[in-house]
Amino acid sequence: MSLKVIVTGADGQLAQCIKGLYKSHQKAIHFIFVSKDELDITDQNNLGNYFKDHSFDYCINCAAYTNVDGAEDDPETAFLINAEAVGYLAEACQRNKVVLIHLSTDYVFDGTKNEAYTIHDQPNPINVYGASKLEGELKIKEHLEKYYIIRASWLYSDHGKNFLKTIIRKLEMNEDLNIVDTQLGSPTSCYELARFIFFIIISGDLNFGIYHFGTTNSTNWFEFAKRIASYFPSYDGSRIKGVSNFPSRAKRPANSVLSTKEIESIYDRIDSWENSLDKLMKKMLSKQ
Ligand SMILES: NC(=O)c1ccc[n+]([C@@H]2O[C@H](COP(=O)([O-])OP(=O)(O)OC[C@H]3O[C@@H](n4cnc5c(N)ncnc54)[C@H](OP(=O)(O)O)[C@@H]3O)[C@@H](O)[C@H]2O)c1
Repeated sequence: MSLKVIVTGADGQLAQCIKGLYKSHQKAIHFIFVSKDELDITDQNNLGNYFKDHSFDYCINCAAYTNVDGAEDDPETAFLINAEAVGYLAEACQRNKVVLIHLSTDYVFDGTKNEAYTIHDQPNPINVYGASKLEGELKIKEHLEKYYIIRASWLYSDHGKNFLKTIIRKLEMNEDLNIVDTQLGSPTSCYELARFIFFIIISGDLNFGIYHFGTTNSTNWFEFAKRIASYFPSYDGSRIKGVSNFPSRAKRPANSVLSTKEIESIYDRIDSWENSLDKLMKKMLSKQ
């Protein structure tokens, strides 16, 4: 019998990538994708009833408030979706024996460490979004025994809103670009992350708890943008300038690289950020 997996926040970029990879796993896993309109995770009653009326083995929670700057102006909504509602979901999973796979963020860290962050490092968020996501992690630990919290960073894909798509749009409009070169991180393809999520489900026996996912190496936003521009030969790459500061409402950690050391012993498909980007760019350009 195939496993039943519900994916919340189905219109988001990660959920769309999971959907894209789903076809190759159709026999082993049966996915149900629910968008915010179909299942609003902040509606505790409806959520509870939905989980009571349907049976699932896993829930992948891709629903989130992801506007990092917007969260500074609207902390209530960020905390409602990223923390309170995650608590409701954890309660529903606990009551109905569903394993929760939840996504969290590198922004739970303050960025003062000189090396990559491991799962043993103490979170200390410096913006509202990071604080709301950390609170969500705590709600899961409070209400649920069987969970995987995957912290990821700098997600991009060919879906939704993300840095890659913003840069491509600006390159196509032939704009000059000023890009921050003082923040270190691991640009992570949602497809690579989706593969790791499949791996967790297919494995079935990995220890519950927190996992850090990312790439084998790290970079900054400026280098990331330059690499994206290298796929657009008609754009003069020297028009991309590195800047130390970019005005934004939310503070961002100077270093939010997540160490993948802990998962390397169980998962051998973690790639460099350059290879992951190459794979996606080739796919995107072949469709044009
Ligand atoms: N994006 C990144 O760089 C990044 C980095 C690290 C970790 N993460 C985490 O990775 C996960 C996936 O991120 P993503 O980039 O795929 O996010 P995304 O594209 O913004 O998708 C989030 C989805 O959740 C939906 N949603 C919002 N409120 C909801 C609610 N109350 N009930 C149900 N659905 C709701 C959104 O719908 P609307 O758009 O209609 O509101 C959107 O479709 C999130 O947990 C995020 O915090 C993201």
